[in-house]
This record gives sequence, C-alpha cells and structure tokens, in this order.
Amino acid sequence: MKARLNKFFRWLPNWVVYLLAFLWAAWLFYQAATGAMGVEPINALERAYGELALQFIVFGLAITPLRTYAGLNLIKLRRALGVTAFFFVLAHLLVFVILDLQSLSRTWTEIVKRPYITIGMLSFLALLPLAVTSNNRSVKRLGAASWRKLHKLTYIAALLGAIHYVWLAKGFQLEPIIYTVVIVLLLLLRVDFKSRFSRPI
Ligand code: HEM
Repeated sequence: MKARLNKFFRWLPNWVVYLLAFLWAAWLFYQAATGAMGVEPINALERAYGELALQFIVFGLAITPLRTYAGLNLIKLRRALGVTAFFFVLAHLLVFVILDLQSLSRTWTEIVKRPYITIGMLSFLALLPLAVTSNNRSVKRLGAASWRKLHKLTYIAALLGAIHYVWLAKGFQLEPIIYTVVIVLLLLLRVDFKSRFSRPI
C-alpha cells in the first residue's frame, strides 16, 4: 500500500496540484457569488481562503515527518504545496482588500489598528520571499544551502498564521488551538534535541 502511494506521489505532476487548487478557489468564489455561503459571503470566502492557506502550510511542514515516521514520500510535491499555500494567502488578502474593505488606506489603518491583522501581514511578508524564489532559476542563483536556509521562514510564517487565527477567534474556539498545537508539534519534530542539548562528556 505504502509503495503504491509513493509511486502515485512520484508520478503526480505538480500542475495537477495547481489546477485542483485553482478550481477549488474558483468553486468557493462561485459559491460566495451565488449566495451559497450564507449571509456574509465575503467574510465566509475570506475565511475559507485563510483556512486553506494554513492547511497547505501545515501540509508542507508535515512532509518531512511523514517521510521519516510513516515512510510516505511527498518530497516531489513540496514546492507545489508551498506555492499553493501562498496562492490561497494571496487570495485571502485580495478578498480582504478588494471585496471587504475596498480601499488601500482602510487596509493600512486595519493593519496598524488590529494586532491580529498586523500578525497576518507579517506572516504574509515571511512567505513572500519564498514564493518569489520558488523557481528553478532562483534555487540555482541562491545555491541549495541558502535556499534551504531561506525556507526556514516557513516556520515563522506558520507560527504567525496560527497566532493570527487564535487572536481573531472570538471566545474559546478549539479549531485555532488545534492548528497551533499541530504546528508547534511539527516544528518541535525538526529540533535535533540530541545534538543541541547533549554535551560531550
Ligand atoms: C496578508 C495579510 C492578512 C490579512 C490582512 C488577513 C486578514 C484576515 C481577516 C480579516 C480574517 C477574518 C476575520 C473575521 O472574520 O473576523 C482572517 C481570517 C483568517 N486568516 Fe487571515 N489575514 C492575513 C494573512 C493570513 C495568513 C498568512 C494566514 C495563514 C497562514 C491566514 C489565515 C487565516 C485564517 C485561518 C483565518 C480564519 C479562518 C476561519 O475562521 O475559518 N491569514 N484573516
């Protein structure tokens, strides 16, 4: 079963991920435009894109542990999943600026006034250099080591994304807390405690 799944992941072209993400985003947009998303369709769409962005970030963080602990190899799709996460963050931001606030100056006011928006924006800014360099030419120009180092920004973006979600939730809500716990656990799995904290005697 595992071997079959890995064969499928190796075969799956990146463009299929992009196409499915685009179709899903378009379907959600259509649902919002035709009244199938409730009485506040813009807010519902904004939230749906935001949640998908966070889910793809979590998925991206899970790829290495999935290979290490479950033997599932999705490494080939990692870049496509990262770019897709950014695509949904951008859609989330565009719905907020163009459909929700409909003004750049109001957007700036919100960024300054509401800490959860400031944090969302910081998460977006952490993802921006990754999205810009997610092409073969940039990987070559930066060198694999620097590119990998730069991609540690994903960890910051994920944490800020989770804090953004916890902060904006009104009252006690389990979902943002679950995302935060999962992200923290996925990041802890990357810390090499043995070499970091054990001193040679
Ligand atoms: C680019 C800057 C960002 C802005 C201006 C922004 C703004 C917002 C706003 C206005 C909401 C809805 C709040 C409400 O309904 O009261 C929201 C929800 C959300 N945002 Fe963002 N956000 C940004 C970045 C991000 C990023 C980078 C992520 C993910 C990594 C993210 C994930 C979410 C999630 C998960 C929700 C809640 C979804 C739900 O309720 O199901 N946002 N954001």
